Amino acid sequence: MGNKELRVGFIGTGVISHMHMQGYADAPGVKVVAACDIDKPVLDAWCDKYGIPEDSRYTDYRKMLERDDIQAVDVCVHNNLHTPLSVAVMRAGKHCFCEKPMAATYADAKTMYDAWERYNKESDVELAIQMSTIFQSQTRLAKKLVDQGDLGHVYFANVVGHRRRNRPGLESNLSTNFFNKEIAGRGALYDMGIYHIAQMLFILGLPKLDRVSGSMFSEIEPSEKLLKGNKFEVEELAMGFAKFAGGLSLNFMESWAIHMDTIGDTYIAGSKGGVKFTYDPPQPFAPPFPTPSLMLFTTKNGQDIDINMNCGMNAFIEQGEEPYTKYCNNNMMHWYAALTKQIDFRYPTHKIALETARLSEGIALSSELNREICDDEIDELSKPTAMRKQVTEWGTFEYDF
Ligand SMILES: NC(=O)c1ccc[n+]([C@@H]2O[C@H](COP(=O)([O-])OP(=O)(O)OC[C@H]3O[C@@H](n4cnc5c(N)ncnc54)[C@H](O)[C@@H]3O)[C@@H](O)[C@H]2O)c1
Repeated sequence: MGNKELRVGFIGTGVISHMHMQGYADAPGVKVVAACDIDKPVLDAWCDKYGIPEDSRYTDYRKMLERDDIQAVDVCVHNNLHTPLSVAVMRAGKHCFCEKPMAATYADAKTMYDAWERYNKESDVELAIQMSTIFQSQTRLAKKLVDQGDLGHVYFANVVGHRRRNRPGLESNLSTNFFNKEIAGRGALYDMGIYHIAQMLFILGLPKLDRVSGSMFSEIEPSEKLLKGNKFEVEELAMGFAKFAGGLSLNFMESWAIHMDTIGDTYIAGSKGGVKFTYDPPQPFAPPFPTPSLMLFTTKNGQDIDINMNCGMNAFIEQGEEPYTKYCNNNMMHWYAALTKQIDFRYPTHKIALETARLSEGIALSSELNREICDDEIDELSKPTAMRKQVTEWGTFEYDF
């Protein structure tokens, strides 16, 4: 990675912002020069850790956005603040990298996308959404198989994400904002579900949605001790069934909590072959997590055959053959490399996230209205939930978007 300079500020210095800093660690050109959080002790601890001087620590994002030596802003606040703050960042003429989900509703995601179109024309700013599943060799290899026709006519995808009992902020040690409706908007569907939906929609070439049904549940009584006086207000389980143009069908299930040991596999079925999304066993060079991998099921000489694609090793081979892919394994590196023109393309995470929000919204609306939802109803039925006003100890922020 070259070291062309990109000067970055952060809005939100909570848990996930530290992961972003790890992501930037391999991009020496990224200079994080300022940070903003309304929680002053959290902000100070963060700035002390990363060497941000006193005069570059902000409790009011507007002051940080006035600086003309900042080119890009990394937005790490909770869901219902993504649109208000990302629009403010782009309006200030700065590139914006926003955490997932793009927003808690399709309506808000569309507002952010429209703002990008406007400010991109006016001042060339770019918008990216954190989408780690797009930056996996598993995703690239599956997409290649689909695009090259190795699976034949692709007609069905099963998309699952399973946690037996791990509702963030409740059973895991994260912010309770994850299950606060006003701040997060929604639960399992918009937290982990969007990662898996985005991955599949990207692999399938962002197919045009036709209709969708869905159900969302919150049934498992949270422990009073873990709630600590808070209320659990979002879904812990979501499922959906969607049809796309041409009949392509997608089945989806995402759980933060379910009394079940497994809910099946993510896979794509085509007329000539199918791929199942798996994990490689740990190996030297692999990151501390199991490497997402693939099994290919097809026929040869009339016989069924199963091929282990071993994505961990294939990623090294791929990088040798197609060096650009080394900029495609990490959200932040990819964004930095694209903005500093070290690669001449960028995965359109803002478009993928918008389409993901559309399907997710269809699932949520179907659950709420208890009926199937047609694609053309989503624009009309989706209602914004993004915050217009935020009261803080530093004053009240009125968001204009
Ligand atoms: N924690 C994770 O494991 C994780 C993983 C992936 C994505 N995310 C996403 O990241 C986002 C943030 O999650 P988190 O776990 O870091 O939450 P967090 O609560 O730890 O951090 C959010 C921070 O935003 C600050 N904030 C709120 N309003 C602000 C404002 N107007 N200006 C500046 N700062 C403000 C809060 O004070 C807080 O410190 C969420 O959208 C979540 O979906 C989190």
